[in-house]
Amino acid sequence: MTERDLTVTPDLWPEIKVPALDPAIEARIDDIMSKMTLEQKVGQVIQADSDSVTPEEVKQYWLGSVLSGGSSAPGDDAFAPMDAWIAAADAYWEASVDPEGVEIAIPIIWGIDAVHGHANLAGATIFPHNIGLGAANDPDLIEDIARITAEELIVSGHDWTFAPTIATPRDDRWGRTYEGYSERPEIVRAYAARIVYGLQGRPDTDGFLGDGRVISSAKHYVGDGGTLDGIDQGETQATEQQMIDIHAQGYFSALEAGVQTVMSSFSSWQGRKMHGHKALLTDLLKTHWQFDGVVVGDWDGHGQLPDASTTDCPDALMAGLDMYMAPGSWKGLHASLLGHLQSGRITLHRLDDAVRRILRLKFRAGLFDAPKPSSRISGSPLRLLGSQDHADLAAEAVRKSAVLLKNSDRLLPLNPAGTILVSGSGADDLGMACGGWTLSWQGGRLDSRDYPHAETVLTGIHRIVRTAGGKVLHRPDGRFRRRPDVAIHVFGERPYAEFRGDLSTLDDRSVYRRDAEILQRLRGAGIPTLAIFLSGRPLWINPELNAATAFVAAFLPGTSAGALADLIFAP
Ligand code: GLC
Repeated sequence: MTERDLTVTPDLWPEIKVPALDPAIEARIDDIMSKMTLEQKVGQVIQADSDSVTPEEVKQYWLGSVLSGGSSAPGDDAFAPMDAWIAAADAYWEASVDPEGVEIAIPIIWGIDAVHGHANLAGATIFPHNIGLGAANDPDLIEDIARITAEELIVSGHDWTFAPTIATPRDDRWGRTYEGYSERPEIVRAYAARIVYGLQGRPDTDGFLGDGRVISSAKHYVGDGGTLDGIDQGETQATEQQMIDIHAQGYFSALEAGVQTVMSSFSSWQGRKMHGHKALLTDLLKTHWQFDGVVVGDWDGHGQLPDASTTDCPDALMAGLDMYMAPGSWKGLHASLLGHLQSGRITLHRLDDAVRRILRLKFRAGLFDAPKPSSRISGSPLRLLGSQDHADLAAEAVRKSAVLLKNSDRLLPLNPAGTILVSGSGADDLGMACGGWTLSWQGGRLDSRDYPHAETVLTGIHRIVRTAGGKVLHRPDGRFRRRPDVAIHVFGERPYAEFRGDLSTLDDRSVYRRDAEILQRLRGAGIPTLAIFLSGRPLWINPELNAATAFVAAFLPGTSAGALADLIFAP
């Protein structure tokens, strides 16, 4: 593919009307930029990970942003309490606004992946992952979930979530299928704007980026869900028209809703990695659509460009990246960018444009006028974190996201007054119900004690059966002495994230062999059985589907997984 081929035809793409500039902000940006040093300008376009940068270094290098990656909780403690997060937020903020040694200090902006609620913060409300929300097909619900997520983010001092993921997954072998809302572009498009509204507020109202709101990111631009064989970070298989019709639909609505940042994808198209795709990052997004926000890179994604490394990549900035996500590579990158500025490999004009966009973002987010993060919430922040009404909304989302695939002999709804056998590895496993991007990048075991309002599938079943005078027998292997009236078998995928969840086949028998045996044994004993499947995607589970009497696909329901019990029992 020659450079000439790496182009798009803007007239093919729909016109988009992004919210207009605020002249008052532009004048303030002019003033600040006139006082910034070159080192400060280079620092602004660099985002470091909180695991790899100290507040002192944020000040020394005038870094523009800090992120907390999936496993970068304070003190490397996935269960770090809110106070530890807010203390870190204050420390970075105070370092960034310290005017010593510069004519003007610029506040930091702190980003994190709150992709199904603020799932990095122990105790926060963890909603179903996006694939389940897509199955709910309820845009109003989505906006409420986003609004609550923003509220809980501010509790830990964060300004910015790297959400929504508006991929349109086309191959369920992709390890990020569950991060997408739907394979149907029209659902992605309907949702994208509503999530941005919930996180940021509506651009034409006083509440836009006001109290209780955060900056959002439409990601991963563009075509991340269309790679060959679902290989994460691979080459998107799409014509330009298919990019428009399938993969870009969410961007049309997110941009018009005023999303302030767009995250570049690791994937490639036309043989060119997105982080270096000038036609898409600049010619289409910024020139044709007049997007005036920030294009942020993905986790050292710039290092995947030809002749580049994670600490040396001028081409990404020149292609249209405005902020490098340089988790541990930030120091080397700072030095190399300064060198490329001196040599002319990066132009001051492009650097200034990137810095202007970042300052605009920070002005719109109110960061230049905001107090330190710990002073931004009136009253006790704890009242916002994982409250009962937030959990109730999560429970509503769980009930709406479950999909009934089979109900032979009209088994459902079940009688809660009977003897219920509950089996399977997923029945009482909150970590399995939450999936990846939960407290750590890959997710894993969760302790219900950290989530006061959490319910596993089993505890939800106990809640209902106990009230009805029934009896629950919890036997993970499905073996029983006292014959039950009915069985509920909860099984599925262990947590994973990104490429670690990529599959070569949807029929991975190694994962479910035991479940098929248990289900067939219950069937052989004449016990009517409901199977509940916890997964990040549709998979080939015909043996289990055939052995069960009834079958519900529950995807990754989160900390209110117990709400599934409300669905399966008769009132
Ligand atoms: C990851 C993901 C991206 C996330 C970022 C920061 O690699 O690709 O979705 O926002 O890094 O954690």
